[in-house]
Amino acid sequence: MTTSSIDFPSSAPTALAVQRAYLERHGVAPTVLARAPGRVNLIGEHTDYNDGFVLPLAIDRDTWVAAGPRDDGQVDALALDEQQAEDRFALSATPPHFPGGGWRDHVRGTLAQLVEELPSLSGMNLVIAGDVPMGAGLSSSASLALALLRAAQRLGGDATLDGKRLARLAQQAENRFVGCQCGIMDQLASAEGRAGHALLIDCRSLDTEPVPLPAGTALLIAHSRVRRGLVDSAYNERRRQCEAAAAGAGAKALRDVTLAQLEAAGLDDKTFRRGRHIVTENERVIAATRALREGDVRRLGELMKASHASMRDDFEITVPAVDQLAALLQDVIGEAGGARMTGGGFGGCVVALLPQALVPAAVKALEDGYRSPEGEPALVYLCEAGPGARAEAAAAATVAG
Ligand code: GLA
Repeated sequence: MTTSSIDFPSSAPTALAVQRAYLERHGVAPTVLARAPGRVNLIGEHTDYNDGFVLPLAIDRDTWVAAGPRDDGQVDALALDEQQAEDRFALSATPPHFPGGGWRDHVRGTLAQLVEELPSLSGMNLVIAGDVPMGAGLSSSASLALALLRAAQRLGGDATLDGKRLARLAQQAENRFVGCQCGIMDQLASAEGRAGHALLIDCRSLDTEPVPLPAGTALLIAHSRVRRGLVDSAYNERRRQCEAAAAGAGAKALRDVTLAQLEAAGLDDKTFRRGRHIVTENERVIAATRALREGDVRRLGELMKASHASMRDDFEITVPAVDQLAALLQDVIGEAGGARMTGGGFGGCVVALLPQALVPAAVKALEDGYRSPEGEPALVYLCEAGPGARAEAAAAATVAG
């Protein structure tokens, strides 16, 4: 078995599974293999669509796509993780929605955005699988979109679209086709993640700055098992409330508003609190980046704790199960790190940064102290910061013999 480079583990079981399934379905080997990671956000929640700052990292869990060309303008897609579900549609900039949406609409919407940029794109066969937990707030859909875009771009022979442009296309697919008014964080983290680093993103300029994670710290993600889709959640409502807060303060975006300006804007209590979360969260992201650079894990922990409280009290996007998870972890971690809800909210995961030595105690505290409203234990993922989305010629990565 050969891997083409160290940061492209194409020998991973999922990579082999998509290539084998492709061979079985189409009778030939795929020509392209692409991979894109999910993400976890260390701090900076709901700041991205306010032109603000976020500090996510790409995790070492990926969606994989094996791809090959077709000459009939059709897309044939097989999703191994969706009980081998299939889709077939004509590649175009305006594909129809699939009744019921789901993963098929992500594929259709994402490729539609790419066709607008690369009109010469022809049809393709796709086999998709991954190990990014779905519905957990770890951006499995952004990782699917980036893996598709990297695969299709490579098939189309394009080398001009960079990670930022691809991330924008993936975001547009969500906004225009899937119907979630999400920001750019998930897609850009998946596109430009760097192993061993978090990524400070300025969501206005799209400038990214890798920040090394401190040695000896572990990244623990605990899934509450409370699932809530972004589209039908209050996500879009939060976005409208933020726009109202910015407009009330006479600014284009909350990025440009200070706390004093917000206080003077005469907003109703709820709109004010929504705005206050964003304004203070932006400050926390900048402070957290500094703390991370200085290896000041204690300060980072304080900021994570404050971020969680702000999401709970001002932005009102946590749920009791997630508050409990964060509190359990924070109790074990004390001042040696921090824990907070991560992602869009209303369920999903808590992220904790803690000394490696405390991991067993943290896991034990969750086992003993946490049950979801349905009585299930938390799911725990120990992750590392991995590299961003890539595509390569499948031949170089295929198992020999
Ligand atoms: C979801 C969205 C992101 C971001 C987060 C909250 O993950 O897709 O754009 O807004 O929620 O920080």
